Amino acid sequence: MRARIVGTGSFLPEYRMSNFELSELVETSDEWITSRTGIKERRIAKELTVSDMAANACIRALENASVTPEQVDLIIVATSSPDYFFPNCASIVQKKIGACNAACFDLSAACSGFIAALSTAAAYAEAGIYSNILVVGSEKMSSLVDWKDRSTCILFGDGAGACVVGRRASGDGAEIISGDFHNDGNNNDVLTAEKSGFIHMDGQAVFKFAVKKVPETIKHLLEEEGVQTQDVKYYILHQANIRIIESVAKRLEINASESGKAQNEYVKTVMEKFPSNLQKYGNTSSASIPILLDELNRENKLHPGDLLVFAGFGAGLSWGSMLVRW
Ligand code: ACO
Repeated sequence: MRARIVGTGSFLPEYRMSNFELSELVETSDEWITSRTGIKERRIAKELTVSDMAANACIRALENASVTPEQVDLIIVATSSPDYFFPNCASIVQKKIGACNAACFDLSAACSGFIAALSTAAAYAEAGIYSNILVVGSEKMSSLVDWKDRSTCILFGDGAGACVVGRRASGDGAEIISGDFHNDGNNNDVLTAEKSGFIHMDGQAVFKFAVKKVPETIKHLLEEEGVQTQDVKYYILHQANIRIIESVAKRLEINASESGKAQNEYVKTVMEKFPSNLQKYGNTSSASIPILLDELNRENKLHPGDLLVFAGFGAGLSWGSMLVRW
């Protein structure tokens, strides 16, 4: 019996804040934001809480998995923007969805939070401790940004993504094959959000860290499993910045060069392996990977046997990746 992803769900608040609207709050422009980040708009939760968004994503994931709330035996919410210090967000989600038999805890690993939560859930399922685990990334980043700071407020958005991890026999769900997770606390000061303050970030340091460490963890993961980079159907990366994703794609040196392929065709073939939705949602931190996974799932872009790599990176500094066979 292995740990498998048996359902996915996501929730995005309705309100869309465009780059044009932002340019009325701070001195910026659609052209600057689009060319430096790829982001065109982001969703803003307004009165919705992190637990509201998480609960909605969980209900959709449970429906998708055909698992009832009563069958859930563990809820892990990855978040850096919880409703309260305590109770934890998972306990509030438990009440909102009626998962009365679940143990509950939150996990804080910023934009790597979903990778940390998914690997924790996989370990519990593999060990036979829990059979139906809700893994959620949910963030209200709009509550952490200084809306007067143009270097950070343009980057982030709100939303939630979830999946159900089950202990299941072969053929039922997507197999979680392995993972790789790291942290460098010595450099924790380049990306911080103070207790009652705002996000502070050395953008260029975060950029350099991400484009070095993400390819490293992915290459290590694939080497360990004997998988070639071109054999992966989709690389589902944390959605921070399209330039980070493009740089990671380049550094993975994916061999898609069926001889004679023109350079622009090669780039297109490679980038098809790196789906992105940051144009619509900005950086939703721990929620970005499960939101994108759910969109791919619901668009029927995932087929049995497809190899998927998830990779997260962010404050800590933390970074990690996971390999899944759909
Ligand atoms: N609009 C217009 N101009 C701006 C803006 C803005 N929103 N923000 C900064 N500028 C200006 C700066 O003041 C600077 O002006 P100057 O040259 O006169 O001093 C100029 O633009 C260049 O600024 P840089 O900071 O050098 O711009 P850079 O090209 O590095 O882009 C960015 C900044 C987009 C933040 C980039 O560094 C980046 O994406 N870094 C990664 C950040 C990230 O992804 N963080 C989150 C990852 S982890 C997590 O998810 C929590």
